[in-house]
Amino acid sequence: MKTLLLVQSSARSEGSRTREMAEILTAQWRARGSHCQIQVVDLADAPPPHVDAATIRHFFGLAGPDEPTTASLELSEAWVEQLLQADALAFAVPMYNFSLPSTLKAWLDHVIRPRRTFVKVADGQLEGLAGPKPALVMSASGGLFADTSLDHLRPYLKTALGFIGIDSPQFVDWEGTARADVDPEVRRRQVVAQLHDWVQAC
Ligand SMILES: Cc1cc2nc3c(=O)[nH]c(=O)nc-3n(C[C@H](O)[C@H](O)[C@H](O)COP(=O)(O)O)c2cc1C
Repeated sequence: MKTLLLVQSSARSEGSRTREMAEILTAQWRARGSHCQIQVVDLADAPPPHVDAATIRHFFGLAGPDEPTTASLELSEAWVEQLLQADALAFAVPMYNFSLPSTLKAWLDHVIRPRRTFVKVADGQLEGLAGPKPALVMSASGGLFADTSLDHLRPYLKTALGFIGIDSPQFVDWEGTARADVDPEVRRRQVVAQLHDWVQAC
């Protein structure tokens, strides 16, 4: 069995380019055979809570022996397990205010955890535990921001995923969704080909 974990974060269900990309990816992944499964975490359907003080005590091993677990900790455990068990990861990520949706940041705050997805190793360095595995980020933005100093989406995701051992995520971008000079049909064809290449390489 080969499991792809797909994390959706567009607040929109209608007209969403990242959801359209995720649909294309899903069809391509399933077309590889019945051994290729998909698990979906839809952060718009069920937005993660922000981490709270009690949950942080549990994350960092500071909770007393009788301190009850929190609902947030239980969600975190389930998401960490899904992340660790997955063979490949895909994130559908709209650009919101130069960065990622806050729901995805809240999910990352639940899965980037000491002793679960990163550890301190002998020389005091930190090492990721969630990789290696292939990762894909399907992003969409109204304007054109890739490789500019205003892009806080791609550099942040590269750093955050790399920190837990998921190096070199591939980015497939649908930029310029609000621009008249970007032809959506041309872009869609390019996206289909790029997603196909990623799926074949997995
Ligand atoms: C709250 C919000 C903030 C946005 N901020 C930006 C931005 O900073 N830069 C940009 O190019 N587009 C921005 N957009 C436009 C979206 O990135 C664009 O509509 C994209 O297609 C959204 O992804 P989706 O189609 O999957 O929902 C923003 C949209 C919303 C709703």
